[in-house]
Parts: sequence; C-alpha cells; structure tokens
Amino acid sequence: MFGKKTEAGGSGPVTLPPGPAALAHAAAASPLGKAIPDLKPAGAPIAAAAGQPARPAAVVVEKPQVEHKHKSESYYDIKSTIFNALIDAIDLTQLGQLDRDAARDEIRDIVNEIIALKDVVMSIAEQEELLEDICNDVLGYGPLEPLLARDDIADIMVNGAAHVFIEVDGKMQKTGVRFRDNGQLLNICQRIVSQVGRRVDEASPICDARLPDGSRVNVIAPPLSIDGCALTIRKFKKDRLRLPDLVKFKSITPEGATVLEIVGRVRCNTLISGGTGSGKTTLLNCLTGYIDSDERIITCEDAAELQLQQPHVVRLETRPPNLEGEGAITMRELVKNCLRMRPERIIVGEVRGPEAFDLLQAMNTGHDGSMGTLHANSPREAISRLESMITMGGFSLPSKTIKEMIVGSIDVIVQATRLRDGSRKITHITEVVGMEGDVIITQDLFIYDISGEDANGKIVGKHRSTGIARPHFWDRARYYNEERRLAEALEKAEDRTAKD
Ligand SMILES: Nc1ncnc2c1ncn2[C@@H]1O[C@H](COP(=O)(O)OP(=O)(O)O)[C@@H](O)[C@H]1O
Ligand SMILES: [Mg+2]
Repeated sequence: MFGKKTEAGGSGPVTLPPGPAALAHAAAASPLGKAIPDLKPAGAPIAAAAGQPARPAAVVVEKPQVEHKHKSESYYDIKSTIFNALIDAIDLTQLGQLDRDAARDEIRDIVNEIIALKDVVMSIAEQEELLEDICNDVLGYGPLEPLLARDDIADIMVNGAAHVFIEVDGKMQKTGVRFRDNGQLLNICQRIVSQVGRRVDEASPICDARLPDGSRVNVIAPPLSIDGCALTIRKFKKDRLRLPDLVKFKSITPEGATVLEIVGRVRCNTLISGGTGSGKTTLLNCLTGYIDSDERIITCEDAAELQLQQPHVVRLETRPPNLEGEGAITMRELVKNCLRMRPERIIVGEVRGPEAFDLLQAMNTGHDGSMGTLHANSPREAISRLESMITMGGFSLPSKTIKEMIVGSIDVIVQATRLRDGSRKITHITEVVGMEGDVIITQDLFIYDISGEDANGKIVGKHRSTGIARPHFWDRARYYNEERRLAEALEKAEDRTAKD
C-alpha cells in the first residue's frame, strides 16, 4: 500500500556488513543521505500530512553498557536515513490509530521496500534490529523503550538528551542510552503526557502523567529545566514486594515482620515515614496485605500504585488541573469525601498537605486501621511534619491541640530508609504513646543500628529490639486474639538481640 512515488534517486548498492569497521566503511563509501528515493505515493491511504510532528530522531548510543549493545555510528547513520525516508512516506497520525501489530506490519513493509530499493545488504538479524529500533521511535518512547521493557529498573531519570540514569537494586547507574537531541526528548515527553490529555511546553512546563502500564511520570521542560527536558519515571512494579521479600532482603527481621503483620491486622493507625524511594509505598502495600477481607477499604492516591488484594476496595485518585488550570481535585477533597463513603479503613498514598488533618480526624473517629505515608527522615520528624502540615493548612488550632490530635490518632510509625549503599531498611518501628507537657512521647520497638561500612562499601548494621515486651497496642492485639503471637515475636527479637 505504500507504493513508490518515483522510481528516481537510485544510488549504488549499499552493504551493511556485520563488523563495525566494515560498516563504517560502507557508510562512508556510500552515504545514504540524499540518495534514498522519496517513496510517498500520491493519494496513498496513509499520506504524509502537512504539519506532522517533528521527526523523531535516531538513537545514539554513547558508551556501550552491559545491557545496551554497542552499535556503531554508521548503523545510526543508515538507520537515520531509512527512518527519514519512512517518515516521508507515512502519516504518523494515521499510523498511530492502528494497533501496534498492524502499525508494525506497515512499518515492516515499507522498511523492507526501502532496504530493497537501496540495495542495503543486511542480515535478517540486523533488519529485525533496525525494525525494532524504528518501531520504538515511531510507535513508542524511542530510546526509552529498552529501559521500559526491563523489570529490574526502579526509576529512569533523563537529564536532557545526553544523560540517562537508571536505578537498579538501589544503585544509580548511568546508561549509554541517549536521545539525538533535546527536540527528540521533548517529542517523547509530549507523546507520554498527551496520553493523559496533557501538554508540556513553555507555557506549561511542569506535568505529571502516567504510562499505560501504571508507571508514574514527571516532566519538567525548558526554560525551567535548563539543559533540556528532565523526565523522571518511577516504574510500576507488577510484582510488588511482600513482607517475606523484605525479610529475605534483610530490610527487616522475621520478628519485626511479624510485628508489622500484627500492626496491620489489629487496626493500628499507622504512618509510614521515609525519604523518596525509600520503600514507603512498598511497605504500605505490604501492610495492607494483612487487612481482613471483609473490611471496606478506601484508598486515595495521587497515582494509583497500591495493589490491594481484598475484595471490598474503592480506589480513588486525585486529578491535576486541566490545560485551562481548572478541575483539579485535591487529596484533601478525596479524603473528606471518603468519610461519606462509609469506609472502615482509609489508606492515603501520600500525605503532603492539609489532608493530614482529615486523615487524623478519620483515624480518631472510628476508622482505625487507617494508614498513610509521609516524607520524613525519622519518626520524630514525621510527627513534626504532620504538625506543620496542619498548621500550614490554615486550621487555626493551638499547637497543643494539634499534638493531642496526633497522639490520639497515630498508633505506630514505621520508618523506611534507603541507606547510602542502596539497600533499604526498616529502621524504626515506633509507637506514639502519649504526651508529657507539650511533648509527644514515642517509644521504639525495633531500631536498626549502623555500625560501619565493610571493604565493599556495604553498610554494616543490625536490627535490634529495644526490649519492650508489652507494647502500647497490646490490648488491641489481645482484642484481635494476636497477643500470643505478638509476645512471641517480641521475645524472640529480644533473644536475637542478646545473642548478637
Ligand atoms: N526493602 C526493599 N528492598 C529492596 N527494594 C525495595 C525495598 N522496598 C522498596 N524497594 C524498591 O524500591 C523502589 C521504590 O520503592 P517505593 O515503595 O515506591 O518507594 P517510595 O514510595 O518511598 O518512594 C521500588 O522499585 C521498590 O520495589
Ligand atoms: Mg511512594
């Protein structure tokens, strides 16, 4: 269906032998540049439209990395030429309406035609690779595709066209992936955010979006980001980690995990505190795993990440403003609305503002077992963050009242930390026990002590029980018939600490 427009423009045969040296030679001897004929058929079903988006450019691989195969510059030259001929021959908008397989078939046909016409000699494997690259550029997220396809990556961070970092196993790595220029990067950012009906440009340079697989995306474009778009992707994990996984990773001891399990089950109001990427959402997800299946749970999130297994769950998500700056639904509105939905437990993905007040109120008024995460570096800091969120939310309450409210609402604070060697630990399981004068009193059940660093830069440390045998939520545990399990776990933890 993509017939040739003209038969003109033929050039000598171009070979694409496998070795990079030979490749370079072939490309130098016969630059494909202008030689590729224009293949656009007049009135073809998918005709190039005027004003089509700027051409996505070829991928350039900087330094070969373990996972990113080395490709020579001439591969990219040839690809870029074939790519440009392809773009001239098809209408991307119409192509975008086909499903991926059909679009791929169309692209395959035309790429083969270009290759045949230009006498480019390629092995089947090379043709497949080229086709894959071109499909990624045309249909997907270009150079990001191979990274998006990997399940072991937690975050992808693009700082302008030439610097792409990933986080794998808690470690930051620079990849060899590169965009040709900032234009291509902006195009891809645009393609991502347009899927959620948004736009990113000079007028609205900040944008949150989500990939179809649930990964969270943030884009900040020039002029705010100085060296080209900064794109951050928190990849959606299909298989969220569970508490036994965290035990296996030594993020927590088996006894600590049992205590958390009980905390989740016996409806302690729980706050999970931690820095960015410390594992808060993962932990929250773990804790929700121990909620009984007959409870009505309502979750409020900025971007749905939690994966609750219970049958009776209502999932709510905030909404950013539309292009005109209207229609935003905030977390506070969601949490307030929740209260009218007869929840038994409310789970707030991330507490960052005045919704703190509503969540505490919910916790205080019969929705025990509610949970939320919050950005702080220690349980004590979590408490002061809560206080300041409420103060800044415009509730004119005396400081003491706010503190009393916190003490009356929060039972347990679990602290997640990403250590500097990339490992993630649960560093505190702390109870909020009461007030002395104007000070909120907390008591740690478990803590993680760091003793140093080994020769490989790995943090050396230990989880330690603080020896508390009767935690504050003991009665609650007894009510749910969990007191024996709780006592056993605490006792075992103490024995382990004594032995260490
Ligand atoms: N204890 C852990 N051990 C190893 N990886 C973890 C652990 N907890 C979380 N992760 C991984 O770290 C990344 C960030 O976790 P997430 O829970 O989303 O962090 P946060 O919500 O604090 O930003 C995810 O890829 C997650 O799978
Ligand atoms: Mg999170």
